[in-house]
Parts: sequence; C-alpha cells; structure tokens
Amino acid sequence: MLALQVCSLMVNYIINSLSKQNIYKIIVYDAYCGNQYNQTGSQLHLYVSSRPPCRKNRLTLNPHPWGKMNLGKIQTKKFNLWFKNNHVLKDVDLEIQEKAVTAIMGPSGCGKSTLLRSINRMNDLINGCKTSGEIVFDGLNIYGDGNNVYDLRRRIGMVFQKPNPFPKSIFENVAFGPRIHNTAKGEKLKEIVENSLRGAALWDEVKDRLHESAFCLSGGQQQRLCIARALAAEPELILMDEPCSALDPAATSKIETLIGTLKEKYTVIVVTHNLQQALRVSDFTAFMYVGELVEFNDTKVLFERPRSELTANYINGKFG
Ligand SMILES: Nc1ncnc2c1ncn2[C@@H]1O[C@H](COP(=O)(O)OP(=O)(O)OP(=O)(O)O)[C@@H](O)[C@H]1O
Ligand SMILES: [Mg+2]
Repeated sequence: MLALQVCSLMVNYIINSLSKQNIYKIIVYDAYCGNQYNQTGSQLHLYVSSRPPCRKNRLTLNPHPWGKMNLGKIQTKKFNLWFKNNHVLKDVDLEIQEKAVTAIMGPSGCGKSTLLRSINRMNDLINGCKTSGEIVFDGLNIYGDGNNVYDLRRRIGMVFQKPNPFPKSIFENVAFGPRIHNTAKGEKLKEIVENSLRGAALWDEVKDRLHESAFCLSGGQQQRLCIARALAAEPELILMDEPCSALDPAATSKIETLIGTLKEKYTVIVVTHNLQQALRVSDFTAFMYVGELVEFNDTKVLFERPRSELTANYINGKFG
C-alpha cells in the first residue's frame, strides 16, 4: 500500500490519471468533511489533508465547492463545440459530482442543451458539428477513438423537454430498452419494469393499467414514464433538459421531488430556465453565458454569494 497525503483539490486529478490504468484501489480519506470514497482496482490510498485549497496550484483549475468534495463523475476539459462557424461552447471546464444534482442555467441560446447533448454524444450526427477538448466520464474520454457510443448512451439516460413516450403501452415503453438489447425477458423483464416505474414514482398510478397506451397518461405522468424508460436501461447518469417546462405546477412539483430521490442512486444533470427550480432541486449549479461557463458552485453559495457580477445580474433578473 502506498499512502499519500495531498491537498484535497489534487485528488480528482490523481484519481483520473491513475484510474485510466485501472490497476489501483483508490481510497480517499477526506479529513475535511470526514467522508471516505472508494474506487475499484488495487493498492493506492490517498489521505486528503484538511488544508485550505492552494489557489496557485496548477491542478486546481476546476475547484470543487469546498467541503463537498467527492469523486467527479464527469469532467469537461477545455471542451469546445462548433456548429459550422458558430462557436457554441467555449473552453468549458466543469466537474459534475457523483450522486448529486447539478443544475445548468443561463439565458436562451447560451449552449445549455448543446452541453447536455455533448455528454452522450447526441450532437455527433449534426452536420458541421466539431469539437475539441475532452469530456471524461468515469476516467474515459468519451470523444476518444474506439468508444462504443451505444454503451455510453445506455450508461447515460436522457429526458427531454417534452415528454416523448413511444406509441406503445405503458409496460412496453419501459420494457423497450431491455427488450431490444435482449437483456431481460419474462419475469425478469416484469421486475425491471416495476422497479423502473417505482423509481420514477409512477408505479402506484399505473400498476392496474400497464397495458393501456402511454398516451392515456397526463403530461406529468408521461414525463415520469420517460424517466422510468431511462431507468430501465440501468444508467449511471441522467441528463434532463428542462424536464418540467411543458408541465403544470403540480406535475412539476412531482418531478422535482423525484429528482431529489433519484440522486440517491444516480448522478443527475438538469438544465433549467427556472432559477427557483435550480435552487430547490440542485446541489450544484453552473451558470452559462454565450457558450462560456461563467460560474460553478454549491447552489446555495452561488445564489447567495455569486462571485461574478454577470451571475448576480442574472439571478436578480436584470437579464434572462
Ligand atoms: N442542431 C443545431 N444546428 C445548428 N445550430 C444549433 C443546433 N442546435 C443548437 N444550435 C445553436 O447552438 C446555440 C446554443 O443552442 P442551445 O440549444 O444549446 O441553447 P440553450 O441554452 O439550450 O437555449 P434554450 O434555453 O433556448 O433551450 C444556438 O446559437 C443555437 O442556434
Ligand atoms: Mg435548450
């Protein structure tokens, strides 16, 4: 066993470098917040010192919200994206924490959806789309050569602005993924459907009408059905692009409560125009403006003490 004591802000850098080789067991003892994190492999223990972050350290380019340090599930590293000549994302450096909700907010057209779609490579098929930099998911650059995009999308579920159930029954919507990938059938499939519907807080409302058309459901129920469909693929990360914008306040409230429970098992990124929603549902918030990540922090800190004047003006409704 090799033990190192390091500044906590160096930990993710070290973990990312070492976990690529897949041979280390990394146990991080975070003396600052008393947590312990594990990563599979064998043999390296890091002890995180409780010293304050050193701003001059070159490894601290993407500082963590201090005190909530965890293993980053996703990092974007100097990520740029162009649609033909339109430079839509500019040097975006963002670190998404595991099993937490991160909100992305910003005015219309600033690149929120584009960033979200970049995470499961949904922009790839758009004519004239070009990227540079990296998006690292569990130590793997998803834009690297030879990645299996289908596997990536199984691990990263997506929920869109408007509920988009398939023209099938409630059951078949949720069973769709496991069925086409041939990962379950019979009783096992029924179990996956039930668990996914329970996970999406919809089971009690639909358990007696699983074979009715999904279109019989209300908008809010349809959106939870889409979340259940995403859960059936057993994702690790769930991307939500304004999942409540087409819903009434009651349905919105149910989805917001659901987002709060999803983070117990999943990492969630939610794009929202609604500042109050970001405040209610998220642990961390990223504020974007014309393709740049202006600020990223613990949600409460970002709303109460924004570092950037631009963020403060956005939060105070001076533009939007
Ligand atoms: N498929 C596409 N082809 C070309 N340009 C696109 C495409 N999708 C988005 N863009 C451009 O990328 C920029 C960012 O758009 P994006 O949809 O990411 O913004 P957004 O922040 O999600 O906005 P909104 O809040 O209105 O949803 C815009 O200039 C948009 O015109
Ligand atoms: Mg959008």
